[in-house]
Amino acid sequence: MKAGFLQFRPELGNRDRNIAKIKSLLPDAKDAGLLVLPELANSGYNFLSKEHAFENAEEVSKSVFVDFLIEESGKYNLNIVAGMNECEGDKLYNSAVLISPEGLAGKYRKIHLFWNEKDIFEKGDLGLPVFDLGYCKTGILICFDWIFPEVWRILALKGADVICHPSNLVLPYAQQAVPVQGMINRTFNITANRYGTERGVTFSGKSIISDPFGKTIVTAAPDKDEVRIVELDIAKARDKMITPRNHVFEDRIPEEYSQLV
Ligand code: ACM
Repeated sequence: MKAGFLQFRPELGNRDRNIAKIKSLLPDAKDAGLLVLPELANSGYNFLSKEHAFENAEEVSKSVFVDFLIEESGKYNLNIVAGMNECEGDKLYNSAVLISPEGLAGKYRKIHLFWNEKDIFEKGDLGLPVFDLGYCKTGILICFDWIFPEVWRILALKGADVICHPSNLVLPYAQQAVPVQGMINRTFNITANRYGTERGVTFSGKSIISDPFGKTIVTAAPDKDEVRIVELDIAKARDKMITPRNHVFEDRIPEEYSQLV
């Protein structure tokens, strides 16, 4: 299967400009089966206040952004994972939607909120779902979730072959974790990061795709729009044997890990 990322610079509070930018880059992803977009791709990141975040949030069932993604998904026969600023009633979530040509196929809400996100968003309440796309199984983490190895492991234990990671990464060493987590869990990982500076916060670009042995397949530039699509051999993520006598999951000794829970 072919999969990849679309790296761009969302504009704060300008959904329609963000849609236009994504639309202009999508032809470069036309061969992909699965494409990952950055976190909060509809709205930008560094809101002035919770009210400002609300003004730029959308309900998934009435979202111009989601409707746009469904249309493009059908046009290119492509599954798309995209971060979005989601409202539901009086609550805001830092979410990612999985869009298939048939429509909304899944959703994840960010569990680990970074810095001032804690003043704006609710903690995700949908757990860590894994979605079967037919040709692969995929799970989603959003940006700062990366620093918690537990969530990568849980998605892998639930059968994810490919972990999609919409991001607005700030910490300069974050990308280093992506291939390492893939190596530990034998998954393909796709981090779609944004770039640019928004009200004093700079995002690091360098979107990355890594393989189940910790190899970086591609990395984007730190500061420009970029779409990269690569071939993924899903069988490599399904082989969990480390040696003929060691298995990624079966060799764990949970009774030694009681502090984890
Ligand atoms: C982040 O979680 N957006 C740094």
